[in-house]
Amino acid sequence: MRQRHRTFRLLGSLLLVAMGASATGAAPARGPASPTPLDRVVPAPASVDPGGSPYRITRDTRIRVDDSRETRRVGEYLADILRPSTGYRLPVTAHGSGGIRLRLAKGTFGAEGYRLDSGRGGVTITAAGAAGLFHGVQTLRQLLPAAVEKDSVQPGPWLVAGGTIKDTPRYGWRGAMLDVSRHFFTVDQVKRYVDQLALYKINKLHLHLSDDQGWRIAIDSWPRLASYGGSTQVGGGAGGYYTKADYKEIVRYAASRHLEVVPEIDMPGHTNAALASYAELNCDGVAPPLYTGTEVGFSSLCVGKDITYDFVDDVIRELAALTPGRYLHIGGDEAHSTSHEDYVRFMERVQPVVAKYGKTVVGWHQLTGATPAAGAVAQYWGLDSTSAEEKAQVAKAARNGTGVVLSPADRVYLDMKYTADTPLGLDWAGLVEVKRSYDWDPGDYLPGVPASAIRGVEAPMWTETLSRSADLEYMAFPRLAGAAELGWSPASTHGWEGYKVRLAAQGPRWEALGINFYRSPQVPW
Ligand code: ACM
Repeated sequence: MRQRHRTFRLLGSLLLVAMGASATGAAPARGPASPTPLDRVVPAPASVDPGGSPYRITRDTRIRVDDSRETRRVGEYLADILRPSTGYRLPVTAHGSGGIRLRLAKGTFGAEGYRLDSGRGGVTITAAGAAGLFHGVQTLRQLLPAAVEKDSVQPGPWLVAGGTIKDTPRYGWRGAMLDVSRHFFTVDQVKRYVDQLALYKINKLHLHLSDDQGWRIAIDSWPRLASYGGSTQVGGGAGGYYTKADYKEIVRYAASRHLEVVPEIDMPGHTNAALASYAELNCDGVAPPLYTGTEVGFSSLCVGKDITYDFVDDVIRELAALTPGRYLHIGGDEAHSTSHEDYVRFMERVQPVVAKYGKTVVGWHQLTGATPAAGAVAQYWGLDSTSAEEKAQVAKAARNGTGVVLSPADRVYLDMKYTADTPLGLDWAGLVEVKRSYDWDPGDYLPGVPASAIRGVEAPMWTETLSRSADLEYMAFPRLAGAAELGWSPASTHGWEGYKVRLAAQGPRWEALGINFYRSPQVPW
């Protein structure tokens, strides 16, 4: 911070006016002389050093890329964002000078970090790989006026403030989960959410593909899982499922936005849709009816039957074959109809199956009540009020090498109501306004967990009450941006007073993108 203040003194008066406005929370003056300050970005960059002249995108600007396919792809992605609103051609080319340059170079950026240099002659984003260039492009978007997001020609001018950003993430796991079981969401709806996640440098899309109310992924060896088990949803609608081609398209699209898909098959509880589809999976051999309510904890796979493990092997094998990512999530939460002894036995048999098909186990943190496999990741979804004993169990596993992804329900469950008046969502974890959601530190959140065990932060979206994209957006925005910042930005940048001003600047961008969001009174929009 001291470094930044010192640098600001060297700036021209116009930029100081803009920064002054930022400090007081007032809207900055807009116009050619006041580009968005380099630090008005979410997630907060690791280091910002403003100074020098801004760069202006004009009709002559080129997007210059290294002559590699992956760099060109990021360049085309940027061009697709800039062309409709600027009305400029913005050719993506390996030739010429100046303009917006995307450049691969070895450096201290890590796998996902980048450096952005802006001045009169151009903007250069440098990174070790395409992911870093892509994240740098997200920063560049936020430095341009919100109108750049519109799909019709806007007046501009298109200025990028001068200076340098050096940025690299705090954590490698910056996730968002979407429950496509309680309500089904189409491939296009998932893609829309992926695009929104990418804006905040989220890099994991966790898909909750099965639950009591619906099985959402085609499994060739057990076809009724999808055709019957996927045929309804909460409230009794038609439901749906992803064909293998659909799922591959989601994986491809997510990868094009540098997100890795983490598929979840929740077991041994949350399995009514599977149990309804195949009578032989039930201990009594009788298939229960499909379920369209919202209770939890009433279903369990039959831990004592061999066919259960044939089923698990087939499902994990087929899902692993569709999934290029490293992880496979096996759920393990709320197994209230499974005895502890059975739960431990089940996890002992199932975790090696995940390894056999080349994936790393992820489970909800109840997995730490069994013995997590070597290298497993536990996703913590407790509350402030979760018992010390339960937290200690997670901490003990973490000290033994289990990774921890933090999804505290009373902070980053995006389906919790903001206030008692929020028309959508649930409130079992309490009411979670924007400040509460943002204002915690993943590094010291769970007592006794070594900092090195924390893999990152994930914001789950459970969909008992949510069925449209507009519903997802209203619950995700603005809280998703805060979860993304907790996963990306160094703890030293954390602070509500500064964050709320940067967050307010996202509002016009969300409007331009057609994102439905909650105008929290805590944020100076
Ligand atoms: C959960 O919310 N049952 C993981």
